Amino acid sequence: MNKAYIGLGSNIFPRKFFIESALRKIALEKGITLKGRSSVYDTHPIGNSLQGRYLNSVVEVETSLGPHELLSRLLRIEKTLGRVRQGKNGPRTIDLDILLYGDRVIRDNNIAIPHPRMHERDFVIFGMNEISPMAIHPVLNMAIGDIHNKRQMKIIRTPREAHSYVSSLRQKGRRVGFVPTMGCLHEGHLSLVKKARCENDVVAISIFVNPAQFGPREDYKRYPRNFIEDKKLAKRAGVDIIFYPDTKNMYTPTHSTYVDAEDISENLCGRFRPGHFRGVATVIAKLFNIIPADNVYFGQKDAQQAFIIKRMARDLNIPVNIRILPTVREKDGLATSSRNAYLSKKERREAAVLFKSLLLAKDLIRGGERRAANIIKRMKDSINKNSSAKIEYIAIVDTAGLKDIKTLKGEVLIALAAYFGKTRLIDNSIIKVK
Ligand code: PAF
Repeated sequence: MNKAYIGLGSNIFPRKFFIESALRKIALEKGITLKGRSSVYDTHPIGNSLQGRYLNSVVEVETSLGPHELLSRLLRIEKTLGRVRQGKNGPRTIDLDILLYGDRVIRDNNIAIPHPRMHERDFVIFGMNEISPMAIHPVLNMAIGDIHNKRQMKIIRTPREAHSYVSSLRQKGRRVGFVPTMGCLHEGHLSLVKKARCENDVVAISIFVNPAQFGPREDYKRYPRNFIEDKKLAKRAGVDIIFYPDTKNMYTPTHSTYVDAEDISENLCGRFRPGHFRGVATVIAKLFNIIPADNVYFGQKDAQQAFIIKRMARDLNIPVNIRILPTVREKDGLATSSRNAYLSKKERREAAVLFKSLLLAKDLIRGGERRAANIIKRMKDSINKNSSAKIEYIAIVDTAGLKDIKTLKGEVLIALAAYFGKTRLIDNSIIKVK
């Protein structure tokens, strides 16, 4: 049995259908077993940029077929999926390329293995790095993971440079994804980067602990910062650009313009952190101007923040697509957060009660409970019984205006904040109630 890697690409709609059909057909071939598949990447067309964008993916197979026979099977699959060869870089329903075949190097009239440009294609390197970072490129004599880690990552310190660099990429037709962060990257951030990596040609993150969103008695000074570690994590995740400004480059001494999303900033965390969302909306409006991305990514964990940013972008006509992705959780359900690093062992153990209380709320709703006060009381009892946490608030609100509701109906947000020692944690769940 030989291990081989196959690259798949499609830029004729429905692209996803062609990729999935090709995969099914490969899996049905005698002598080929599918072993793994990468994510699907949406990519800028190579060469002829007037073509439509591609979806690309990589699969690992085990095969008893020789490389020429494997190629002829792939060509047959291309044909059954309507592939018409229209010269180099023409549009295609499906393109199937052998990237690697064991450690063989083959160059003849019909076949070139390893694929001569595989190491220059981001989607190949990202895809193979996901499924087989240890695979060796026999010509470069390098592991795929090492080729991946050698990609350049640009660190930009000033808003002016960030803006001109990202604008020039956009002008070249590159799709830019952006993940704003305050650093101390964790799995939650990395899941946003991963999604951005799949949906864009270029991924930028910002690392900036924004003083404007911390109250005078909050943890601005002690907020965890670790740029060296962040750089490593970002590089491993395939980030292309880190925007890492100095505070003085973001807020001049005479800074005097702020963005306030009125009304939806008032309830929930807004009640206990006056000025916080004004600081968030201001810095995000600035970041959207500095990094004119196509897509930006935020986590559902900061639910109120996500609502406010969407509202702000809509109200100020900022042309960006805002993607809110599910909360990433530790094994026991605790939502990942940079602030989890502050927790003592005991507090960390206890902190899982927050997620459990949200599960309890779901169970109660599934059982027919619709009175918000009853659900909140049961959640509070459960947290108080099983931890030393000090609950700041538990609220059930509608998702249109974030106003407290008495009776659950339609889409509702259950949100909470609690202190474990000095550490304030938040969590939430959006539920559709019939
Ligand atoms: O969620 C965060 O980390 C911050 O509030 C954000 C969105 C990066 C703004 O500073």
